[in-house]
Amino acid sequence: MCGIIGYIGNRQATPILIGGLRKLEYRGYDSAGVSVWNETEGNSRVVRCRGKLAGLEEKLKAEPAVGTVGIGHTRWATHGRPSDQNSHPHKAGPISVIHNGIIENHLALRQELAGAGAKFSSETDTEIFAHLVEHALIAGAPDLTTAVRRSLQKVRGSFAFVVMSDKEPGTLVAAKNSSPLVIGLGDGENYVASDVTAILAETRKVIFIDEGEMVTVTRSGVAITDFEGNPKTREPKMITWSSVQAEKGGFKHYMLKEIHEQPRAVADTLVGRVDLENDDVSLDGLELDVANIKRIIFIACGTSYHASMVGEFLVEAMARIPVEVDLASEFRYRDPILGPGDLVVAVSQSGETLDTMEAIREAKKKGAKVLAISNVLESSIPRLADYAFYTHAGPEIGVASTKAFTTQLVAMALLAIHLGRRTGKLTKERARELLADLVALPSKMRDVVEGSAQIQAIARRYGAANGCLFLGRGAQYPIALEGALKLKEISYIHAEGYAAGEMKHGPIALIDEHLPVVVIAPRGPSYEKTISNLAEVRARQGKIIAIATRGDNDIGGHSDDVIIVPDTALELSPILTVLPLQLLSYYVADFKGTDIDQPRNLAKSVTVE
Ligand code: AGP
Repeated sequence: MCGIIGYIGNRQATPILIGGLRKLEYRGYDSAGVSVWNETEGNSRVVRCRGKLAGLEEKLKAEPAVGTVGIGHTRWATHGRPSDQNSHPHKAGPISVIHNGIIENHLALRQELAGAGAKFSSETDTEIFAHLVEHALIAGAPDLTTAVRRSLQKVRGSFAFVVMSDKEPGTLVAAKNSSPLVIGLGDGENYVASDVTAILAETRKVIFIDEGEMVTVTRSGVAITDFEGNPKTREPKMITWSSVQAEKGGFKHYMLKEIHEQPRAVADTLVGRVDLENDDVSLDGLELDVANIKRIIFIACGTSYHASMVGEFLVEAMARIPVEVDLASEFRYRDPILGPGDLVVAVSQSGETLDTMEAIREAKKKGAKVLAISNVLESSIPRLADYAFYTHAGPEIGVASTKAFTTQLVAMALLAIHLGRRTGKLTKERARELLADLVALPSKMRDVVEGSAQIQAIARRYGAANGCLFLGRGAQYPIALEGALKLKEISYIHAEGYAAGEMKHGPIALIDEHLPVVVIAPRGPSYEKTISNLAEVRARQGKIIAIATRGDNDIGGHSDDVIIVPDTALELSPILTVLPLQLLSYYVADFKGTDIDQPRNLAKSVTVE
């Protein structure tokens, strides 16, 4: 998730841009830059660099950006590694652009523009938009707003753009599709930003821009239209949040904000990878030697390990390739037997987990190829691997992983479909059904996370429990483990995840009227058996919280509480069933008043043994 800010007024822009970007630092970024219109020189100067804002400020001492109109950006790399050249703003002729999001058809546009003579200086999708706007002006667009509008017709994907032109320095033009965009209103000066936090020090009077809208900002005013140019009106709002609250988007904790960001994160992880025309999946052009993959071994830690366990179900179900899953900390010391035909898949949100890194080294030493699935472009683990495939969850601030996990599950589904279509074990028709369910997930996820009031009430009822058992079968067993990990991590309540079929082999001794038992029981082949596990628990006065599929009118008779999730393909249901467990752990922890975003003893990335 990149940070965006624009200013147009009568004060020096650079200090305002840098101040705003500093407020966005918490989101994580790998490079930063500004473009400021210089009245004397008659053009805008772009100053940008890889690394932190301090480095940019150093560079600005040597190359000052003087002027009262400018745009600034902190980049979280998605396309194109972190580097000076890939930093924003990007310039093409008189046009400067900053961007948050992913241009899905960037490759096709790049080819089209190169064919028209455009020369590119970066690997980014963003630079393409600068060339599009420049070409629209050359082709006769009468002003910047029209040039941006015409360029938007060509672009597919998620974006928030802010555009500036040396030929029209009294104007900033911004446009929104999926990525956040807000306008700040001042007296003879106005602001554009990706987040209220960036401009709260300057103004509390804001206008939130909606999907499919663009806005022309001058010193004297703001004009909003849709992408076709039809005017839109919007009443300004007064922000009452503190700046700390604003950083969390008005949520109480980053973790809650990130739970609610999951529909967007999943949608972003799907962008450019789902090929509905051919009922196939592209792994960003990655071509694995599928015919010669005899076995896949997932290695990971913690939540990423649970994602890998779900991956095992998905890959074996769809591609019929044998899969093993190993804790990275175990794999690296068990002298694993590896050979040609083994593909090791290392899963890591941070891309910096030492156990996983060392496990990769062990795998490579034994001649295996390694695919990394990570959320941080160019982090150590993808750089160490032979191949890399990224989730696009954006920076995850909360120590307890949520949106990284669900986007990892999406990445597993994409990998499994990609492999299954190439081993021939996944039919075109089944792939089509799965892809349709995949792209429908974000709206179904939104249904669940927005229904959190019921979960909050359940959490309040069990907040004082001394323990909790999570049960699931099949691909829901890793979800039971993940639910237990979430509760442990942030509420410090002891919790265990168990394969439901294991109940009678021991854990049933734990059951009494004081123990809440969360049972994940979506419709599917193991539903009846899971219901019988519920009956075992109920017969011993255990308190049951069931996670069930919409339309299930039976499970209520076996449960004290039922949390419903929408129906979807069985293989994808873990992406929905985990959501209530994240919310349950969050609200229990909130009830207990623990430090949810930074729980005791935990680090966001475990870079030590
Ligand atoms: C999950 O909530 C924890 N923060 C932890 O288990 C984490 O998943 C684990 O440390 C692995 O981290 P990684 O995905 O960055 O490698």
